[in-house]
This record gives sequence, structure tokens and C-alpha cells, in this order.
Amino acid sequence: MTDDLLALKAETDAALAAATDLRAWDAIRVAILGRSGRLTGLLRDLGKTAPEQRRERGAALNQLKDALTVAIDARKVALEDAALDARLAGERIDVTLPPRPRVPGLIHPIARTMEEIVAIFGAMGCTLSDGPDVESDWFNFGALNIPAHHPARADHDTFYLPAQDGKPPPVLRTHTSPVQIRTMLTQPPPIRTIVIGRTYRADHDATHSPMFHQCEGLIIDRGMTLGHLKGCLIDFLRTFFDIANLPVRFRSSYFPFTEPSMEVDIGWNRRTGELGKGGDWLEILGSGMVHPRVLANCGIDPREWQGFAWGMGVERVTMLKHGMADLRPFYESDLRWLRHYGFNPLAPTMLHEGV
Ligand code: DAH
Repeated sequence: MTDDLLALKAETDAALAAATDLRAWDAIRVAILGRSGRLTGLLRDLGKTAPEQRRERGAALNQLKDALTVAIDARKVALEDAALDARLAGERIDVTLPPRPRVPGLIHPIARTMEEIVAIFGAMGCTLSDGPDVESDWFNFGALNIPAHHPARADHDTFYLPAQDGKPPPVLRTHTSPVQIRTMLTQPPPIRTIVIGRTYRADHDATHSPMFHQCEGLIIDRGMTLGHLKGCLIDFLRTFFDIANLPVRFRSSYFPFTEPSMEVDIGWNRRTGELGKGGDWLEILGSGMVHPRVLANCGIDPREWQGFAWGMGVERVTMLKHGMADLRPFYESDLRWLRHYGFNPLAPTMLHEGV
């Protein structure tokens, strides 16, 4: 190779070594091999070379072209490797680091309400009881004084499962009340317990979901009266909604498993949705004194033991407490909604505030 070609090779090598990114690399490639590049120009000038030197010059230029192409390609690979290494280093996560104090995850509002309910009734001495989602007709209805063809069954929009062995079809439990029966059958009185769990009804709109959650309570002891029921539920509602003077009203009602039965309303402003004042009433839960026949169904003597019970929708009280109009987003796992309504697990909660 002649001196001018050797110089071009050396110059290009130096420029490539100095190029630290693909953009600089591409500028060099174009300046050498592009249509107006220096090597392209030299090849074009070959025609002007004296015929006796042309062959030798042509061979040298081809050799130079091969060498430059190899050097340029090799530099591209090196730069791409370096870029990938830098990106991987930048994205590396040290999984051994402790979580940042800023919210590693959020508590779903339904879970939060459940925690609060457990904390409040727990402080009153209640245990937590549980039962299956698939229930027999007897536990879901019969033992609760709702025999077949009882009109109250029509209120429940029940999901029935296939019948077996000639027995009535099992159901997806329509309420948590069957756990009252299970608890009384397995535990001698006195009983103070709550149940929180999934319940199912064939109903779906902005305020109803085919799967929802209920909280049930059951207190059985000697000498229980309506006064105990009222005191317990008023205390719960005022603590849960965090409104010391929340108006609470007990309204006569009917449930087959309680006698007398009462629906419980809280005071609110229907127009603004604000709880605690406004002169309107909003129904919030069902309750009553456990029906003597239900006690007897569980082998408990109603002359010795009395009790009261209540049932409440977990979604409903969550929506009221936090001003949510629609129940469907609870189950949609939309991160934007969860970030807005979720609770910081590291922030102090009611559990720590000495309920
Ligand atoms: N089980 C009833 C329902 O789902 C709610 C209920 C009412 C539960 C009164 C009770 C009660 O324990 O005493 O509509």
C-alpha cells in the first residue's frame, strides 16, 4: 500500500477508536465508505491513474477497502456491546435492598375494612369464625328458620349447584348467617364471634356484585337483651365511621332467624353523601335477637341462653366510609383506582390508634 493509503487507514483507525457512540461511528462510516466518502472517491479516481499503475493501485485500494470494512464493522459490534452493558448495569436491581419507605404495595379498601372490623369487634372480645362458601340448603336456609317455599328465599337470588343423593341442591352461601349455626353446633355458649367472608347472589349492577362480602356477628349469653344489641352496634358504627355522635336508628323489620328483628340506619345527607348530619337515614345493617327456634336447632336451650346477631355488607360500608359511588372497581384490579383508594400498609392504622 502506498503512503496515502496507509495514512488513510491509520487516520480511520484513530477516529474509530475515538468514537464512543454509534452516532459518531456512523459519521465515520459515511465519511469513508459513503457515496462521497474518501475511499469511494479514491476508487472513483482509479480511472485517472496511468494505465501501467492502475492494476497495482486497484489491488491496493481493494485491500484497503477490505481492511477498513472489517475495522468499521468491528467497532460497531464493540460499541453495541458497550451500550448493552451500560443499559444492563443501569437497570440492575439489588433484590437484597430493603423496601423503600415509599409504599411497596397498597392495602385494598375491602381488606382494610375487614381489618378495621376485626380490630373493633376484637376489642369487644369477639373471636373470628369461618365456614365454607358452598353450603347445604340446611345451613344456608333450613337451620335459620327459612324452610323450603318460605317467601324469604325469594329475596336471596340464590346460585344453586347440582343436587346429589336426592338431597336439596347445595348453594353458594347467600349470606354469612350459616356460620352462626356452624359455630353454635361446635361451641358451647357463651359465644362472642364474628364472621367475615364471601357471599354470593345472582345480582349485578353499580351497587351489587354476584360475589360480595358480609360481616356477621353472634353473641350468645345469659340475660342478653335488646339493650346489649343496641349498645354493641352503636359503639361499632361510631368507631368504624369515626364519628363520635353519629346518629343511629333501630327500625323494626323482619328476618326469619331473629325475633324481634331490626334494621339499623345511620344519619347522613342524601344530597352530599356526608355521614353524621343532614337529617336523612340510610340503612346499613340487619340485626335482631336470635330466634328461639334457631337456638333449639343448634341444641341450645332458649330458656337459659339468649343472644343477638347482625349482618352487614362489607363493600357497602367501605363505599360509604370512603365516598365511593360504584362497587365494580373493587374487583377490576385497575392500578390507577388502587393507587387512589389503596391504603399505605406502613402508615399508622386504626389498629395502632387504640380502638
Ligand atoms: N343474613 C341477612 C342478609 O343477608 C343479614 C342479617 C340480618 C344477619 C339479621 C343477621 C341478622 O345475623 O340478625 O340479608
